[in-house]
Amino acid sequence: MPTPSSQPFCASSIIGTGSYMPAKVLTNDDLSKIVDTSDEWITTRTGIKERRIAAPDEATSDMAAEAARRAMADAGVSAEDIQLIIVATVTPDMFFPSTACFVQKKIGAVNAVCFDVSAACSGFLYALQVARHFINTGNRITALVIGAEKLSSLVNWQDRNTCVLFGDGAGAVVIRRACENEPEAQGRVLSTVMGSDGNLTDLLKVPGGASACPITPENVASRPNTIHMEGRETFKHAVTRMLEASQQALEMAGLSAKDVSLVIPHQANARIIGAIADRLGLPEEKVFMNLDKYGNTSAATIPVALDEARRAGRIKKGDVVLLVAFGGGFTWASSVVRW
Ligand SMILES: CC(C)(COP(=O)(O)OP(=O)(O)OC[C@H]1O[C@@H](n2cnc3c(N)ncnc32)[C@H](O)[C@@H]1OP(=O)(O)O)[C@@H](O)C(=O)NCCC(=O)NCCS
Repeated sequence: MPTPSSQPFCASSIIGTGSYMPAKVLTNDDLSKIVDTSDEWITTRTGIKERRIAAPDEATSDMAAEAARRAMADAGVSAEDIQLIIVATVTPDMFFPSTACFVQKKIGAVNAVCFDVSAACSGFLYALQVARHFINTGNRITALVIGAEKLSSLVNWQDRNTCVLFGDGAGAVVIRRACENEPEAQGRVLSTVMGSDGNLTDLLKVPGGASACPITPENVASRPNTIHMEGRETFKHAVTRMLEASQQALEMAGLSAKDVSLVIPHQANARIIGAIADRLGLPEEKVFMNLDKYGNTSAATIPVALDEARRAGRIKKGDVVLLVAFGGGFTWASSVVRW
């Protein structure tokens, strides 16, 4: 365990990224054979063309562990170096133990403290902020922050309003404490803002299968353990909150939208992303989107997109990257990172 430090100018840096997407592809045309929908409707309303579906024996922690291995390889750190694992997920392997503990076992991170964070689609940025607190205070030096979901296990495949939107996958980052007197680390997290509005819990939820509404022989047919969403309301709040959070995170970092090299937004709907980019005055080439391939993978969208953006050469040294998310709760968050 590292000794606590009071050095004033130390911060968290993203030193490696990794992602894992399951092999099985489910296209819009495949879905049109299951529910009354079409490729045209899904593409026009959402931008999604296909999504990945995990194998029946593939749990969230399996995907998370693979993304973590890839992020550790990218960062050049070993599993023993990892002192903290936070998994953001709403599709844990089990109620308990935490998915992070399963990841610890699978990757052999014997020195880590492990727990999960539940903030739906904002979960990765919430987890990043929690990890920052550990790292910036010197409590931990090196951490894995993972967003991983098997949303196919929560989808009602008879509900066309929701089943076309979601997919499975995992993304991970390694973050490490880097102090001013060290060579400048890449991926320095400059700011994070977070918000929640528990008055709007009803608009996006999985109402059953937990303590408020356990599954019983009487209610099982109504599928309460699947995603229920008021799409139009969710859409409006997502645009407002993601815009606000982006502006606040930029302001906190002493920057404005014109300084942004690339925005990596939560990948839920191309029209939501377009509305935010327009209001921030960001041209299309500064907006990263991969939701056409993966749909909405909740807490996984941002770390997966960040990894793909880096590997595609879309992020260069010195770039300012804006991350922004919105999800059930409602919850929202934004982070500014300088590469
Ligand atoms: C879900 C969403 C794509 C729906 O788009 P929309 O333009 O709001 O569409 P509506 O919900 O108003 O539905 C319009 C019509 O399409 C129908 N429809 C819904 N899903 C459909 C589908 N998959 N295929 C064909 N028709 C569909 C509706 O039944 C409705 O028909 P009606 O007018 O006869 O009642 C959109 O609201 C959305 O993306 N919301 C935000 C979702 C989100 O981001 N969630 C996660 C946040 S983290």
